[in-house]
Amino acid sequence: MVPTTSLLLLLSLALLAPGLSAEKCVLTGRWTNDLGSNMTIGAVNTKGEFTGTYHTAVTATTNEIKLSPLKGNQHSTNQKSQPTFGFTVNWSFSDANTVFTGQCFVDKDGKEVLKTMWLLRSHVDSINDDWKATRVGTNVFTRLHKRWE
Ligand SMILES: *[C@@H]1O[C@H](CO)[C@@H](O)[C@H](O)[C@H]1NC(C)=O
Ligand SMILES: *[C@@H]1O[C@H](CO)[C@@H](O)[C@H](O)[C@H]1NC(C)=O
Repeated sequence: MVPTTSLLLLLSLALLAPGLSAEKCVLTGRWTNDLGSNMTIGAVNTKGEFTGTYHTAVTATTNEIKLSPLKGNQHSTNQKSQPTFGFTVNWSFSDANTVFTGQCFVDKDGKEVLKTMWLLRSHVDSINDDWKATRVGTNVFTRLHKRWE
């Protein structure tokens, strides 16, 4: 006969194990980056699609910054714990678009982090200015608040 304590130990291990192994990075929630820009990502649907809003702290224009919509896809919705993703920000205050691509990681401290690269396409009046119309950069996002339930 197995002693009760062993049974309890086995039971608690069985209950804990999924939680311990599930180092899952979830895109949904509020994020802030190294520039102080914030974004909110809504629920990711079964196809991996999501929408959200982006509040940038910096701009390449002199226009007043406004909240801008974003739209994207997460790859491998449930299978992968650290999914790749991409999204586009359609700037509401300038004639420009930014595309982000990145991956949602769980770092060594168990904290979620989004490592991204972006391209910002600004409008230029002439094809002669095309050469200078695209900027590139990187951003690292961490959670602004606890994930919205
Ligand atoms: C981002 O959120 C923080 C905390 O709420 C706030 O202090 C900051 O002003 C926000 N930045 C932008 C660009 O919205
Ligand atoms: C993109 O932004 C422009 C300017 O704010 C707006 O007119 C348009 O409806 C937006 N499109 C989407 C898909 O959000």
